[in-house]
Amino acid sequence: MNVTILGTGYVGLTTGVCLAYLGHKVTCADPVASKIAMLEEGSVPFHEPYLADLLAEARCNLKFTTEYAHTIPGAQVIFIAVGTPPGPNGSPDLKYLQAAARGIGEHIDASFTVVVNKSTVPIGSGNWVGSLVRETFEKRNGKKPRTTFAVASNPEFLREGSAIHDTLYPDRVVIGADEEQTAEVLYTLYRPILDQTFQPPTYLPRPEGVGAVPLISTDLASAELIKYAANAFLALKISYINEIGLLSERVGADISQIAKGIGLDARIGTRFLQSGIGWGGSCFGKDTAALVATAREYGLDMQIVQSARDVNRRQRERVIEKLLGELRILKGRTIGLLGLAFKPHTDDLREAPAIDIAQKLLERGARVKAHDPVAMESFKKHHPDLSDVNCCENPEEVVRDCDAVVLVTEWPQYRDLDWEPLAKTMRTPVILDGRLALDRARLSRAGFRYLGMTC
Ligand SMILES: NC(=O)c1ccc[n+]([C@@H]2O[C@H](COP(=O)([O-])OP(=O)(O)OC[C@H]3O[C@@H](n4cnc5c(N)ncnc54)[C@H](O)[C@@H]3O)[C@@H](O)[C@H]2O)c1
Repeated sequence: MNVTILGTGYVGLTTGVCLAYLGHKVTCADPVASKIAMLEEGSVPFHEPYLADLLAEARCNLKFTTEYAHTIPGAQVIFIAVGTPPGPNGSPDLKYLQAAARGIGEHIDASFTVVVNKSTVPIGSGNWVGSLVRETFEKRNGKKPRTTFAVASNPEFLREGSAIHDTLYPDRVVIGADEEQTAEVLYTLYRPILDQTFQPPTYLPRPEGVGAVPLISTDLASAELIKYAANAFLALKISYINEIGLLSERVGADISQIAKGIGLDARIGTRFLQSGIGWGGSCFGKDTAALVATAREYGLDMQIVQSARDVNRRQRERVIEKLLGELRILKGRTIGLLGLAFKPHTDDLREAPAIDIAQKLLERGARVKAHDPVAMESFKKHHPDLSDVNCCENPEEVVRDCDAVVLVTEWPQYRDLDWEPLAKTMRTPVILDGRLALDRARLSRAGFRYLGMTC
């Protein structure tokens, strides 16, 4: 099929490259000329494992452009995958979505086009995008769209760091549409994934046991709400274990054993039960805020979701409290941060705990050193306000002469550091394991005073 993707970020580019790999003819459009230039040369503008490899393999089915006029006409399916960043009152800022919808209305001409909201958008956005496309078309042509088009919702559940895996081998595909004909187009598009009939890339083999992918075919509003409800539930799980962690610390219990003890109950599940600094990233914060804001519009108070947000904020304060508890004074101390990205295997710094923690430490007069295996460039580019943070070449340099080190992002390479000689290079060998990812016994043997978030 002829597919257009609007937005070449984590979601849009991954979707476009995967669909091209499956054999569709895909054009990715983005107004940022520098991104399009990089993509045309075969480079990916952000860090995502295997994306550059797959892009190279699917190159013959891929085009890139900054111009809607070069891609909207003739497209059978148009995915909107633009950003929906948080707005001032918790509702997402929809200016990019609006621009994309208007751009589609300016150029649409095929006989039947399905416009798909893949961005995470508030309930009712399907109708809104439909009316914007229609209105713009009418303004341009002085008549109603001769051609037919329909809007569908196809929320995205990929995780940065394993985006290709999650797109090729999803837990489920959700398609929201108000007419059968619209949904049918998307079933056809996704058929190779739904039936798992494609030849897997050599570097990402099909995991054992993956068979036909469940399809949830529903109305527009339900699809839109599924995405928010899923993200809020995952956020809630993390905040729940962090809240239990506080009590666990008071009573002298072990939160990692508690997480295991409850997680092995199949009704609960072990994932998203790691106690620590809490969630970050571009989605959980903004999507829980949007859910609370939407509910408020309908006269509802989403107390559980709001509490999950409050607990998450408190966890970041606790990093400072923990360091104060140990060092008493932060002014003039040197604190090392291992990890800047909001999670391993990505360079995404949106709402990353490290940013917040660095700011709080600098405000208290501490010196801050930091390292991240892939996010340092992005950090320097997007956070000129944090230019006082000393970005180090390697973790060893971060640790040297520090009064305390905080593991902020659980990159596997930090777990395997040669900790014993590192302890000797510190002013005081204190480590705060913000992700409960390090081997406490090993760190203690290496001479560290080991602190967890809840011990
Ligand atoms: N990142 C994730 O892990 C993830 C997962 C699931 C869902 N989502 C949702 O997907 C959406 C996109 O997220 P992302 O992380 O890929 O964002 P992103 O910021 O990485 O990418 C958005 C891209 O859209 C481009 N853009 C802006 N206006 C445009 C326009 N009018 N036409 C074409 N392109 C335009 C931007 O230049 C940018 O490249 C958001 O709604 C997000 O909530 C993200």
